[in-house]
Amino acid sequence: MDQVEQKRIETARLILRPYTYDDLKDVFGYASDPEVTKYLLWDAHKTLEDSQNFLNWIKSMTCAEQGKVFFVYAIWSKENKKVIGSIDFKNTNKFGGQMDYAIGKAYWGKGYVSEAATALKVWAFGNFPEIVRLQAYCQPENIGSQRVMKKVGMEYEGLRKKSFVVKNKPVDLVHYALIRDTELS
Ligand SMILES: CC(C)(COP(=O)(O)OP(=O)(O)OC[C@H]1O[C@@H](n2cnc3c(N)ncnc32)[C@H](O)[C@@H]1OP(=O)(O)O)[C@@H](O)C(=O)NCCC(=O)NCCS
Repeated sequence: MDQVEQKRIETARLILRPYTYDDLKDVFGYASDPEVTKYLLWDAHKTLEDSQNFLNWIKSMTCAEQGKVFFVYAIWSKENKKVIGSIDFKNTNKFGGQMDYAIGKAYWGKGYVSEAATALKVWAFGNFPEIVRLQAYCQPENIGSQRVMKKVGMEYEGLRKKSFVVKNKPVDLVHYALIRDTELS
């Protein structure tokens, strides 16, 4: 199977790149905040060991196989000179991709995730001609996340009630997706 390289992606204010173990303290910095992890599948990190396990998990889950890609990018801020969060891309199938993201609270509302997600969209559609659908979902209360999806160009598809389990509770999800313009494909 063809392998894909997880190359760094640069934007005006950010560099998206694979994590290294030197990022441990930066990861703990944002992942230890319960406000950041409120809507995420995992609990806030309590110790550096939790962050270490998170980096180990990323390493073990990374997949570079075309059609089954799973890449987690550290979002490195040029201004702050540190990793401020993460964004990932995964193939949902050969023709589809999905994004997930989170950054530290101190950086919310500055357009960082919209900038990162837009760059990841361009990368995904640019590198995988077979991908026709890019999707994301979140809980309806997560207004910031929905705004990012809209800014990336995704359209609201609907709400699925109690369709997901987060921290042992069934939750509603709103779904968004961007379909590649067939003129471009
Ligand atoms: C949701 C999240 C990723 C948004 O990232 P961000 O970098 O703050 O988003 P941006 O600055 O690019 O903002 C995009 C828009 O959302 C708005 N926004 C951001 N956070 C918001 C919030 N908490 N409430 C309302 N609007 C918000 C911004 O003002 C901006 O509005 P605009 O469209 O009018 O310009 C970030 O708040 C976060 O990491 N939250 C915790 C983790 C999480 O919930 N991840 C998503 C799981 S599905």
